Amino acid sequence: MTLARAYSVALVGVQGHLVEVEADIASGLPATILVGLPDTALREARDRIRAAIVNSGETWPAAKITVGLSPAALPKRGSGFDLAIAVAILAAAEAVPASALAGKMFLAELGLDGRLRPVPGVLPAVVAGACGAETVVVAAQNAEEAALVPGVKVIGASSLAEVIIWLRGGPEPPPAPAVVPGPPYGPAPARTAVRKLDLADVLGQAEARLAAEICAAGGHHLSLLGPPGAGKTMVAERLPTILPGLAASAAIEVTSIHSVAGRLPPGMGLITMPPFCAPHHTATKAAIIGGGTGVICPGQASLAHHGILFLDEAPEFHRDVLDALRQPLESGEVVIARAGTQAVFPARFTLVLAANPCPCAKAAGPGRSGCSCSPAARRRYLARISGPLLDRVDVKVRLQPVSRRDMLYDRKFAESSAVIAQRVAAARERAAARLAETPWRMNAEVPGTALRRSFAPAAGALTCLDRAMELGQVSARGTDKIIRVAWSLADLAGQDRPGADQVNLAIGLWLGVTQ
Ligand SMILES: Nc1ncnc2c1ncn2[C@@H]1O[C@H](COP(=O)(O)OP(=O)(O)O)[C@@H](O)[C@H]1O
Ligand SMILES: [Mg+2]
Repeated sequence: MTLARAYSVALVGVQGHLVEVEADIASGLPATILVGLPDTALREARDRIRAAIVNSGETWPAAKITVGLSPAALPKRGSGFDLAIAVAILAAAEAVPASALAGKMFLAELGLDGRLRPVPGVLPAVVAGACGAETVVVAAQNAEEAALVPGVKVIGASSLAEVIIWLRGGPEPPPAPAVVPGPPYGPAPARTAVRKLDLADVLGQAEARLAAEICAAGGHHLSLLGPPGAGKTMVAERLPTILPGLAASAAIEVTSIHSVAGRLPPGMGLITMPPFCAPHHTATKAAIIGGGTGVICPGQASLAHHGILFLDEAPEFHRDVLDALRQPLESGEVVIARAGTQAVFPARFTLVLAANPCPCAKAAGPGRSGCSCSPAARRRYLARISGPLLDRVDVKVRLQPVSRRDMLYDRKFAESSAVIAQRVAAARERAAARLAETPWRMNAEVPGTALRRSFAPAAGALTCLDRAMELGQVSARGTDKIIRVAWSLADLAGQDRPGADQVNLAIGLWLGVTQ
């Protein structure tokens, strides 16, 4: 009867921390004690593990078993430690050699019959465990996901019995199927084909299409204001069709978040396209920002990391939801504090808002016939988003009802998503090359100080912007946003530096007065 050690990983947010599981078997009255601040789910693990070991044909040691999970201060949640605890107990009981556990990490839940069950968050857990272990043992259903991390040997097993045989020197459980990751970078032909959406479907809204292109090029936030049926939802839904794919590191980050949220379908592989999240306006703050009891789950703002968060009918969202979005918009992450824990989820998304100009939603037609809202009611309605969010939106478009003539014209000449996506990809490459020595990749990410110090527009280009500031039309935050958008316009035009034309167009886009 001895002491044995196995390793697992605890997730706090999307950050994995290596956990050491020690099992000690001493003579004394038969009892099992778990120490190391485990939550309720972990205490339930005791009974699950006992059943799993017995049902795998092994004997449960009739002695005093103490299991410690350290570091003790780390909050350990969920059922992913089951397998590590089981093998540590078996090794302490000398049912498997303790030396066989070295260099391995165990990450699976156990069923009462000894089956290995998949757990959420395997990808970030393996990323964290890769520093300490060469081999990772997971449930067969998680093997594909674990294998996305390069340089780690993955053992996907279906039962505890299989793992025990392997630890005793027997055959390995069947190897995890090879995954072919998607292209690391490039336009999005697959998604366009699957969803059959194309920006060319949006007729007569040249300005909204241009705004979508600018926002895709620089990662700028976009708002679409206009009467119902003008095509706001259409434009937003087609934004992903012109975005480039995710870079390799971004793909791992995005897939990790979706994995922690338990939203990664088996066999999905890496998410290589920017995610598109469109929560309904009745969504709660926890659904958008993240939270939940027990295991802290990422919300839509984090699921949209490196992609788009689309709030359709934005003024209808709860005020506290809209207010809560300010934190991720400023810092690019969501911090959720709980007693004794703080989880940080990345949330650097492009915000797209759509809104009708009034609550009755009848403001269609050139004369706004049918709308009976008073000017005060309209102002109040839009004020619900204007305070917290609209100041942070870089490009504001006012859509007009589509005319028949524009529709007929665009049906022939509107550019397809494939053509626009090429320009966007080229613009992103220009920006990335310019920002190569910096931590940023897109114009929207460059902070104001760096913008003024290292990336100032051409001399003389800022005359109108200075004037707009003097007149009090543009705030200091607005100035930075305008210069960022001007850079994106220059990148799209293939220019080295924004000139007066681009800065002036960016002022119009920020003020939302280009039409
Ligand atoms: N600009 C447009 N070009 C082509 N079809 C349009 C356009 N605007 C609206 N439609 C049609 O009307 C429907 C509703 O459009 P939608 O984008 O939901 O409007 P909104 O969100 O502005 O209320 C679309 O599915 C489409 O069939
Ligand atoms: Mg709509």
